Amino acid sequence: MKNFLTILDAESEELEEIINLAAALKKERFTSVRTPLAGKSIALIFEKSSTRTRVSFEVGVKELGGHPLFLSKGDMQLGRGEPIKDTARVLSRYVQGITLRTYEHSRLLELADYSTVPVINALTDTHHPCQIMADVLTFYERFGKFKGVKVAYIGDGNNIAHSWANAAARFGFNLAIASPAECAPSRDILNSAMDEAKKSGGRIEYTTDAKGAASNADVITTDVWASMGQEAEAERKKSFLEPFQVNRALMAIAAPHAIFMHCLPAHIGEEVTEDIFESEASAVFDEAENRLHVQKAIMSKLFL
Ligand code: CP
Ligand code: NVA
Repeated sequence: MKNFLTILDAESEELEEIINLAAALKKERFTSVRTPLAGKSIALIFEKSSTRTRVSFEVGVKELGGHPLFLSKGDMQLGRGEPIKDTARVLSRYVQGITLRTYEHSRLLELADYSTVPVINALTDTHHPCQIMADVLTFYERFGKFKGVKVAYIGDGNNIAHSWANAAARFGFNLAIASPAECAPSRDILNSAMDEAKKSGGRIEYTTDAKGAASNADVITTDVWASMGQEAEAERKKSFLEPFQVNRALMAIAAPHAIFMHCLPAHIGEEVTEDIFESEASAVFDEAENRLHVQKAIMSKLFL
């Protein structure tokens, strides 16, 4: 694994190792110190807003003994039009790893092509692999297994849905994505995930039937109806997505022990009701915490 741009960049065994390492790092966070990033500097480039990703990467690099450099687009020449390929070649002379949060996934691919140091995807319009690794750790902590778990993603067919599909392909769990046809996930991404899933035994289905997807699920998850950069489409998408709200009626269709997950930030009253978000079943803050542990594990493997 040279880079971590999508979950499919790593094999199933490597991903399971990352989850196990993340669990170990979580357990020993305040009792022992591991410093694989000692003497290393990591550039964290953000072209979009962030709370969790920014803070968990900054704290994570520091806890691994390294030096995090938070670089927002507005403060970089990148924001004044310096090409991403030049940014990649310049930063590669200074730092030992780069993370990028950006819009088009092709920008991340270009950065990775021109970097001589490993690159991690901190969210693009198409994928959010670090988030879904944290989500996999979160349900693994609850259920103790990957295979046999049913995850239902209900809502916009966005970057989060795509990364869930890739995770199901590699970890071999069952995933049902329910989205309106107007907001369906990418057919190409679903097809390649379904193809990859043959190796792990994971089942991935796409449906427009939210209730069918939620039926007997162990995990019900959703995301905002308008992602960063889609603000202009928010009203139009809302009309399609309203029937895909996660609420008490939908949770009642899931397994009795089902948990609710959301990558955050959430829009309460849109994709999820407040009672579900605040319920005992809600694992959203564990997910947020697990970003730290899983990213520390990914960086320990990648930024050598
Ligand atoms: N879930 C997530 O990536 O949150 P931020 O946008 O706050 O980083
Ligand atoms: N789908 C959301 C996720 C935010 C963490 C977005 O891209 O804005």
